[in-house]
Amino acid sequence: MSGFVVWFTGLSAAGKSTIAGLVAQELEARGVLVDRLDGDIVRTHLSKGLGFSKEDRDTNIERIGWVASRLARAGAAVVVSAISPYDEARRKARALVEEHSPFVLVHVATSIEECERRDPKGLYAMAHAGEIHGFTGIDDPYEEPRDAELTLHTEGRTPEESAAIVVARLEELAPDEVAA
Ligand code: ADX
Repeated sequence: MSGFVVWFTGLSAAGKSTIAGLVAQELEARGVLVDRLDGDIVRTHLSKGLGFSKEDRDTNIERIGWVASRLARAGAAVVVSAISPYDEARRKARALVEEHSPFVLVHVATSIEECERRDPKGLYAMAHAGEIHGFTGIDDPYEEPRDAELTLHTEGRTPEESAAIVVARLEELAPDEVAA
């Protein structure tokens, strides 16, 4: 079985982790060996101690890209969800993975207004109040990808509907890897 990487990028609260989890579940149900690398979780071990400067974010994405490339090469379907705000860091991760495996970039293109409305962790409110600085989309950049294999609009869709769109795109781009 050959592996691949599906990489979700987008703003905080865009829905990356939720949709990634549903996609992982569907792949597992098909008997695919799946591993997940989620920014929030990676930051509790592999990237523990890193902050949110450009340099630290680039290091975080480089680590995730490296692990993802190794796992995919060994045959896993790797589901990554991280803001990954910088184009260059995403491209480096893609290049590393594509040495051996397909790489599918999914831009979870939820608008900043909707992310601020959702604000599940209250972080946008804190950023506006000046309690945290360098928050993506508020006072730190998010570079929208122009090389995404899929741009996913989540507004007006359930997470399940969004996940089904991702799986359908994977069926087009990596049919053998996601076959039931
Ligand atoms: S990334 O920029 O390095 O890709 P990552 O996805 O790992 O970010 O982590 C993002 C999560 O960290 C957010 O969902 C949020 O919970 C938390 N967070 C804390 N501070 C910030 C910040 N300044 N900017 C963005 N996210 C932050």
